[in-house]
Amino acid sequence: MLIDLLRSRRSIRRFTEQPVEPEKIDLLLEAALRSPSSKGNNPWELIVVTDREMLRRLAVAKAHGATFLQGAPLAIVVCADPVKSDVWVEDAAIAATLVHLEATDLGLGSCWVQIRLRQREDGSDAQAYLADLLGLPEGVMVLAIVGIGHPADSKSGHPSSSLHFDQVSFERFGRRR
Ligand SMILES: Cc1cc2nc3c(=O)[nH]c(=O)nc-3n(C[C@H](O)[C@H](O)[C@H](O)COP(=O)(O)O)c2cc1C
Repeated sequence: MLIDLLRSRRSIRRFTEQPVEPEKIDLLLEAALRSPSSKGNNPWELIVVTDREMLRRLAVAKAHGATFLQGAPLAIVVCADPVKSDVWVEDAAIAATLVHLEATDLGLGSCWVQIRLRQREDGSDAQAYLADLLGLPEGVMVLAIVGIGHPADSKSGHPSSSLHFDQVSFERFGRRR
């Protein structure tokens, strides 16, 4: 059941040295490419990175929260073309989420690294840095990087008691069950 996967899901930022198997990379990509997208426009561009030096460069793409990528054996850079979809952010976010969930289902750990609207240590845009590093065509935007690997951390899923059911209304805002 999907709910069992969701109950165990966590963001994992520490990985073993073991590379992610090519068959698993294929499944991660298939999951992303099966995402729903507005009007079926499929605006995504995915870049698979396993080269250690490239991973080190991704790890300094922004000031905070990307460093763990230097210890990840795999990153999938989730981009989209805004010309293909005015709601590319939503489309790309769904694809990144499905990569994260598929990774969990495959026994891998993964964590989202936000790139859109984020700056580097020197105040310059993470987008510009990645466009240059990855050779992105003009206009293609990076939403996020998902760092993936065999988990070196084990985290429990969030307990049901921590879920914000107080932020759920029925029929009208503020009406609880
Ligand atoms: C839109 C978004 C942006 C995030 N950006 C980062 C990030 O840049 N670096 C990072 O280490 N984690 C990032 N995360 C992971 C969150 O920190 C994580 O999901 C949150 O702390 C809850 O932990 P959990 O996923 O284990 O439940 C991001 C998650 C989302 C959904």
